[in-house]
Amino acid sequence: MSDTVNPAVIRRADYAAPAFLIDSVSLEFDLVPERTIVTNTMRLRRNPDAAAARLELMGEALEFVSAAIDGKTLPASAVRAHEHGLTIEDVPDAFTLTIESACNPGANTTLSGLYVSSGNFFTQCEAEGFRRITYFLDRPDVMTTFTVTLRADKTAYPVLLSNGNLIEQGDLPDGRHFAKWEDPFKKPSYLFALVAGKLVALEERIRTGSGKEKLLQVWVEPHDLDKTRHAMDSLINSIRWDEERFGLELDLDRFMIVAVSDFNMGAMENKGLNIFNTKYVLANQETATDTDFGNIEAVVGHEYFHNWTGNRVTCRDWFQLSLKEGLTVFRDQEFSADMQGGATDEAARAVKRIDDVRVLRQMQFAEDAGPMAHPVRPESYVEINNFYTLTVYEKGAEVVRMYQTLFGRDGFRRGMDLYFKRHDGQAVTCDDFRNAMADANGRDLAQFERWYSQAGTPRVSVRTAYDAASQRYSVTLSQGYGEAAPAARETQKGPLLIPFAIGLIDRAGRDIPLRLEGEAAANGTTRVIELTEQEQTFTFVDVKEPPLPSLLRNFSAPVIVEYDYTNDELAFLLAHDSDPFNRWEAGQRLATRELLALAARAQAGEPLTFDDSTVAAFSRVLTDETLSPAFRELALVLPSEAYLAEQMAEADPAAVHAARQFARKRLARALKNEWLAIYERHATPGAYEPTPQAAGHRALKNLALAYLAELDDPADAVRLANAQYEHANNMTDRAAALAVLLAASAAAGAGVAQGALDDFYRRFEQEPLVIDKWFALQATQRGSAGRPVIEIVRTLMAHPAFSLRNPNRARSLIFSFCAANPAQFHAADGSGYAFWAEQVVALDALNPQVAARLTRSLEMWRRYTPALRERMREALERVATQVKSRDVREIVEKALA
Ligand code: PHE
Ligand code: ZN
Repeated sequence: MSDTVNPAVIRRADYAAPAFLIDSVSLEFDLVPERTIVTNTMRLRRNPDAAAARLELMGEALEFVSAAIDGKTLPASAVRAHEHGLTIEDVPDAFTLTIESACNPGANTTLSGLYVSSGNFFTQCEAEGFRRITYFLDRPDVMTTFTVTLRADKTAYPVLLSNGNLIEQGDLPDGRHFAKWEDPFKKPSYLFALVAGKLVALEERIRTGSGKEKLLQVWVEPHDLDKTRHAMDSLINSIRWDEERFGLELDLDRFMIVAVSDFNMGAMENKGLNIFNTKYVLANQETATDTDFGNIEAVVGHEYFHNWTGNRVTCRDWFQLSLKEGLTVFRDQEFSADMQGGATDEAARAVKRIDDVRVLRQMQFAEDAGPMAHPVRPESYVEINNFYTLTVYEKGAEVVRMYQTLFGRDGFRRGMDLYFKRHDGQAVTCDDFRNAMADANGRDLAQFERWYSQAGTPRVSVRTAYDAASQRYSVTLSQGYGEAAPAARETQKGPLLIPFAIGLIDRAGRDIPLRLEGEAAANGTTRVIELTEQEQTFTFVDVKEPPLPSLLRNFSAPVIVEYDYTNDELAFLLAHDSDPFNRWEAGQRLATRELLALAARAQAGEPLTFDDSTVAAFSRVLTDETLSPAFRELALVLPSEAYLAEQMAEADPAAVHAARQFARKRLARALKNEWLAIYERHATPGAYEPTPQAAGHRALKNLALAYLAELDDPADAVRLANAQYEHANNMTDRAAALAVLLAASAAAGAGVAQGALDDFYRRFEQEPLVIDKWFALQATQRGSAGRPVIEIVRTLMAHPAFSLRNPNRARSLIFSFCAANPAQFHAADGSGYAFWAEQVVALDALNPQVAARLTRSLEMWRRYTPALRERMREALERVATQVKSRDVREIVEKALA
């Protein structure tokens, strides 16, 4: 079919320049929920680089009304509206095209295109939502300037916003009004946005580096105005940071953030008019946890940083998505690390690094090992919305980080400067970014391209040898992918350039100055060696005693390191490594090893035991007052059940749960007095402070409380949690206390938590984001006194506050259960999978993007024990016969293939 704009599989290799270019576009909206009329006037011109007689515009879920070329209405024979858009025959080389169409935002449950939420209008255009608003060349390499006129009822929609600058506004007959906006910068359609409704703003005026005054606004519903301060502060900090670190200034006179409670993702970087999920805007100490505060700072930063990395320089096509996302995640990670500890406090920065690596390893490594595995720059897709993935975002950020690891902060900055010098105002590719980094640093980065084209998680295995006579220590690194999933294996062509940071530690726990063979003198105590071949040996000289290697410091590359440390060596690294990331890593390796052994014993029905020396190693960290509370908390959290299951040859969630619970109880009992003392010492009485330091104290204190709840007699924990719940002056402590009561109810019965649960609901009934927490806490609990959590979840599905249409609410109950409560979700009777299948099908009819995300919680089915595997396959097959959307079908078909 020649006029199909959406063939089944889209391939990167098929990229072709657009047949037409758009010099400018003017959009007029008559906003009415049931029928909004859009009048779209474009200046079009044939692209000299392409030849096509006809004009094909994309359009979806639109009602075509009329089209005119240079003011002359086209006859029905010259234009054809179809399922995927509009085809116009025989157009001139340059012309003005005016199209009128209608859409129904009030009935749009997909939250893509123009939709209504809480009575207000919002848009979401990335990736391909603009074509649900009007017919267009809806592809990122078609950039143009937008003028937008909004007309709507003045009482119902007093605020009318779009991208850029407000150039005109006024009243219209019949109680209506209008606003006209002009965006001076060329942009692709995916960055278009409009908002209309009853909203109020927190405002601030600041001066940027060049002395220009800027207006900053955070728009919310009136009752949320008391929860906007933190987002505003985060925005101001982001603006300052991008000037300082990258010399990038805000280019518009006005920058707006708008919060909406119905949103598929976290937030969206529309030019000058960022639209955010309320979850990443609204916060005060009563409603938001320390984690929420941190996430808001990160997401506000992320969207703001997109203004340069994404908007000023955008993607040529969607295969290049990581060009903007990997780079912008890297930038937001660096921003958050700087906000944690400044640019130089490595221990404080490590807290952020550990968090990020935890997500990468637990979620992205799994993605890379499954049927959805794809390179950072994918080769093909069926539905682009399915490729907003951990690989594109998180692994993409690691790939960007490696440039900085190779060239240093200054070299990275030189590469960024050259990238903007070459490409400002353009739609470019990942290769363009890599070339800018290479050229600015005088390096050939041809081999580095493989990080973009090869899927799967690389493994680096390490062998070492010490020769006392010559005082030489050799480190042999070899790289490969192990047994990769078929989806990944196809892409693997050769060795990568892996920057591998290494240190050597002496018997006293001190770093040894490092001198590589051939060097005149020692130079530093951490060296980034570059592994470029399948196997290479690096030899250190002047090594006076057999050292202990500290490998892949600060996680210098997104790889799995294989090295046979003894338990004693890991305990030693945990106590002494100068690299804070690797200190944490040593503890995780130790715990992972113990927990996997326990899981194997649980599977075999053997008695469980836990090594005393491991307990002692953790005890030393817990009581080491030279370590920050935040770091100690991270070190004392055992690897997650999901991560542990992923390490097994066949994942067995029940065995992993039994093992991890056993270990938690063992640590609770053995360190009971320490936990009690920690709980007292790290209480943060007095006024709530949202600082990283205070948050660290709360985190460690609440971890202590959680461990105390694991005691056979949790009476102490219940008493402390009840008191903490009642007197909390912040959500971190209140939610943590409630979670502990729910955990204690696993043994002691539902009554233990019921009072606090009911109180929590009543207290926060008017705060949807807090009610989300109320659902999530119950969905992730262990089950009370033997009652399976699926029963609780099914009961909550009927709660008047539950709704499938609100993605945050669906995530808080359904996703929390299906993706964050593995032991209960993977119940042997398959009850979790049956529930999953029902919800995927129900969501598919409302919101395919959200449905597709939920679908992914079963994609790893082949990795599980045979009985579970069989039940999962049945559930997937059931879903395959019932779902309609391209989004869900792509996931199910790849999973079953
Ligand atoms: N581009 C957004 C971000 O990374 C994510 C997003 C994608 C939001 C698609 C909505 C739709 O910040
Ligand atoms: Zn982004």
